[in-house]
Amino acid sequence: MIDWTEDIESILISESEIKEIVKLVAKKIEDDYRNEEKIVLVGVLKGSAVFMTDLMRQLHIPVEIDFMRVSSYGDSSVSSGNVNIILDLNRRGLGSENIIIVEDMVDSGRTLKYLVSYLKNKGAKSVRTATLLDKPGRREVEFTPEYVGKQIENKFVIGYGLDYAEKYRTLPYIGIIKPEKI
Ligand code: PRP
Repeated sequence: MIDWTEDIESILISESEIKEIVKLVAKKIEDDYRNEEKIVLVGVLKGSAVFMTDLMRQLHIPVEIDFMRVSSYGDSSVSSGNVNIILDLNRRGLGSENIIIVEDMVDSGRTLKYLVSYLKNKGAKSVRTATLLDKPGRREVEFTPEYVGKQIENKFVIGYGLDYAEKYRTLPYIGIIKPEKI
């Protein structure tokens, strides 16, 4: 039987630590948005799926949910971080929505920088971002998420939604893969 846990070198963030991190992020969002009318969490598939579903259940304020899916152009000759929208919000324009984009990871910053301006241009009342993990050392564009679960060093991490070649997303913790598995 294939066992993904055998590919893990070490656990960087345990299940119980993730739980605490999610609660803290939810608390900050609640404090900031308590008086807002229409709040929409927009999860960016696929990586954010697990964080998104845990975060929404820790929020004790009414929120709607939605999803987008994007991909970056892999060609490094394309500068300015063009982002391909594969799945867009199925809403007729935006107006009263206070959007919080939910991500598993901010790396170069290109995806979220693009999405924030894309959704602002569509007319959202406000757009902020919440990420479980942030690698500020990898930034290629200026971008600061408003809500960060935990900053980490530049290590390749998997689990809790994050993948390597589409594997490991279902592991309940954030782990580091054995180098020989990459
Ligand atoms: C990851 C992550 C973010 C993006 C961050 O997604 O979920 O969406 O990369 O990188 P950036 O800051 O350099 O733009 P990925 O493209 O791996 O797709 P996935 O969510 O489907 O795993």
